[in-house]
Amino acid sequence: MENEFSNIRYYDINPFDIDEQVDWKLFSSKDLVLVQNYWGLKKTVYPIGNRPIIVEDHSHGWLTQGCLESRADFCIASLRKTIPVPLGGIAWKPRKSLSNLPFPKAENKFAPISRSSMNISWSLITKAMELKSKAATNEDKREFLGTYINGELYLGENFDILPLEEDHYNTIKPLLLKDFNVFKKRNLAYLNKKLLPTKKFKRLHYLNGTPFGLLFIFKDRETLDQLKKHLIEKSIYPAELWNNNPIKYQHKYLLNIHVDFRYTPNDLDYIAKSINEWQYICDHV
Ligand SMILES: Cc1ncc(COP(=O)(O)O)c(C=O)c1O
Repeated sequence: MENEFSNIRYYDINPFDIDEQVDWKLFSSKDLVLVQNYWGLKKTVYPIGNRPIIVEDHSHGWLTQGCLESRADFCIASLRKTIPVPLGGIAWKPRKSLSNLPFPKAENKFAPISRSSMNISWSLITKAMELKSKAATNEDKREFLGTYINGELYLGENFDILPLEEDHYNTIKPLLLKDFNVFKKRNLAYLNKKLLPTKKFKRLHYLNGTPFGLLFIFKDRETLDQLKKHLIEKSIYPAELWNNNPIKYQHKYLLNIHVDFRYTPNDLDYIAKSINEWQYICDHV
């Protein structure tokens, strides 16, 4: 966005306190405010009366309660964080939107097969996923990573909104409204029983809803790096989210361990054992 607009400003909010709300007093009705549904657990309290244009990003919480009940003016989400597609985003005007700004009507026809950077990116990332699923050697891994990074580079080149290709539409459509959160909910409940308590990091606190993944928050980067390294040695690849975000809170480094529909109870046992093992090593060495 910084490439496209010169007047972007940032506001403070604690992403790890799911009850904390945007301070709407900071904005005038001429502003457009991008609000995050952090970890899919946030439920935004919207201001009454004159308010800025509110766009909510539900990438971390596609089809969570906050997403389904949004009263933002418009919403957006990156779909590949939830559904198994190489890329794609969605924008919509929620039913409860009060905005009188029109939502542009989607063109009622598919894009011709084209060599747009978006389509090249889709093919490269699809190819990367195939390579990943078959990778056996370090050379295979390098080929997968190279292809993937190349796909991401093409994606970064495209700022246009393009109509979907029919083939891509047919891939996304049957998956779009599937409740992938059920798997996460079940997997997290399973892991909660297996993971030992620790003082090394905080678990993201929540009472309701289903978060994006198994979320650990660290005070210092070194401890996060140690756990990450330990897990990678066990072929578990966690994601560090928003690693360069300059936030002012004490616990601020977030590691996400994927717990989505791909994982079986055996995988989860292995993940829990690996995390517990690291804690044991930290406490005893
Ligand atoms: C909250 C949020 N929104 C949007 C995006 C962008 O998603 P994509 O890379 O699919 O465009 C990200 C990526 O990390 C994200 O964390």
